[in-house]
Parts: sequence; C-alpha cells; structure tokens
Amino acid sequence: MEQSLATGSRLEVHVFFVPDASSTLSRDVAQGLRSSPKRIPPKYFYDARGAELFDKICDTDEYYPTRTERALLARVAGDIVGAIRPTDIIELGSGAARKTREIFDAAEEAGFAPRYVPFDVTEDMLRDSAERLLSEYDWLRVHGIVGDYDRHLSKLPSGERRLIMFIGSTIGNFQPDEARHFLSSIADQMGEEDYFLLGTDLVKDDRVLHAAYNDEAGLTAEFNENLLNVLNRELDADFELDHFEHVAFFNDEKSQIEMHLRSKKKQTVAIDKLDMTVSFDPHETILTEVSRKFTKQRVADLLDDAGLELTNWYTPKNDYFGLSLSRRKR
Ligand code: AVJ
Repeated sequence: MEQSLATGSRLEVHVFFVPDASSTLSRDVAQGLRSSPKRIPPKYFYDARGAELFDKICDTDEYYPTRTERALLARVAGDIVGAIRPTDIIELGSGAARKTREIFDAAEEAGFAPRYVPFDVTEDMLRDSAERLLSEYDWLRVHGIVGDYDRHLSKLPSGERRLIMFIGSTIGNFQPDEARHFLSSIADQMGEEDYFLLGTDLVKDDRVLHAAYNDEAGLTAEFNENLLNVLNRELDADFELDHFEHVAFFNDEKSQIEMHLRSKKKQTVAIDKLDMTVSFDPHETILTEVSRKFTKQRVADLLDDAGLELTNWYTPKNDYFGLSLSRRKR
C-alpha cells in the first residue's frame, strides 16, 4: 500500500504501509512479558514525553554520546563530503535530523547540492523536520520515505553516489542478529559508488559509561520509568511507577549497557487490553534496553559480516565515539 504526496516542488514524501503502532506494541509486550527474562523493545520509550526526556538527557553533563558525535561530525563532514561527493544523502532513522546539518553545511561549503532522503517511521516528524530543513537550505530537495526497517529498506531511491547514514549509535540497540540482518539489507542494495556512514558508541572507562545512564538529575531513570506510563495508557495496564526502579549497568561480557526496570517487591500487574496479568518476584527485572559499546575491530567485523569494508575511521581525541565509512567489498 503506497501513496505519493507532493507538498511544494522541493518536497516529496513516499508513505509505505506501517502497521498500527498499537498492534505491534500489544504483540511485543505480550510476548516480552511472557518470556524469561522479561523484556520490552526500546522503541516504545519514545512517546512525546519520552522524546522530550531523551532530549534533556542529551543536555546532561554525563550523557556524552550525542554531543560527542555531533562535534566529531562537524570536524569530519568536510572530509567525508569531499571524498564521496554524494548526489544523495540517505538518512535511516532521520528523526529531527539535527546532526545531519553538519553534513549539509559541509556540502554547501564545498559547493554540492545533494538530495536528502530521510527515512523514518513517523510521518509527522519526518514532514516537520523536512519543512524546517527546506527553509534553512534553499538548494535542498527532500525525498522522504515513511516506512520501517523490516520491510521498506529496499525502497531507497537509486542515485549516482549515495551516502547512506545510520548515526546516533542506534545500531547499539539491536540484538547481534538484528544488526547483522539490518546491515546486510543495506549492503545488498549498495552500488559501487555508494558509501555507508555508521555512528557507534565505543567501549570506555566503566565509570563514564555508568554515569551516562545514571545521571545525577534522574532523567534517565525517568525516561526508563516512563515506559510504564506508555503501557498504562496504551494497554490499560496498572503499573505503579513507585513499585519499580531504574537500574542501568555495563555488562562487560556482552559489552553493553543494560537498562532494566526492577520490581521493588512481589507484585502482580494487570494489563487489561491484553487480558493478562504479570507477576513479579522481588528484584525481578524487565530488560528495557541494551546499548552496545564497540571497538574499531568489532565495527570492522560487523561491517565485514554484512559484505562491507571499512574505508575510513573517525574518532575524537578521547576515543569516546566512532564514525565509520564503508563500502561494498569488491
Ligand atoms: C538513542 C539509542 C543512542 O542507547 O544511549 C539514552 C538511548 N537510553 N539513555 C542510547 C538512551 C538511555 C540512546 N540511543
């Protein structure tokens, strides 16, 4: 099911069928809370309040990834754009496209006017952010795609030299097999002249990692607990926020931050819309997010598995974050 809409001559949005968010939520929550250990996918954090809390987390002293990646992009965007001379900038999970401006600024500076192809699951957000970019960059043309990673990655428009971006270390939220599958489907449709830019958070001092997910102001805790508000509202559940606590730690063996909601006591919660009740033992947790931390070697291996070869590796002085450019192995 597809419809094509044009608003103004510089914006084109292709909308592919994305199943109703509430039906996938029902399925994922029913499945996740019946499994052991209990888990809920992190994509449900981001209701309006969750998105607002994430923005506030990015402004805390402790949460370094967003500002580190942006500063790094600002420093290397000229190099990237100069080397690739992209005709198209495709951004997977474009969101508000804040960091992408560093690439546009570099393109403008170098005298290129690539087309922008944001890909996101939320149409309203994609349109808002496209309109804003169009007003800021008068040379820009936007070809937006509303779809999901599972079914619509094959719908990316072709182009002469495409820079496909997946930044923000979102790849760290994927399970290893999901990451492999995701990268393979990108690699499979890349041509000889296309490049892939991936942002990955890196392994570092445990205390720095721990603090980033346990900020002093308690915003990450609130962000995590807000997931229970989402379930209460969307699924008529009766989670008491006071009966759960935020836990986040670095799992060294798996090289990932894990966020959990831990039950403070023995309790049973009703989820009316799913016709189910869920029982918790004291200290039992729901795994709400993993955020993998990489090394350069692990990024290279991940890319290699997908049929890509690392061509450029960029890090800041403190090695907190990595941006990698890769292309199809030939
Ligand atoms: C948006 C997925 C990069 O994993 O660090 C921030 C989300 N979770 N604080 C991350 C998040 C807790 C974030 N990503």
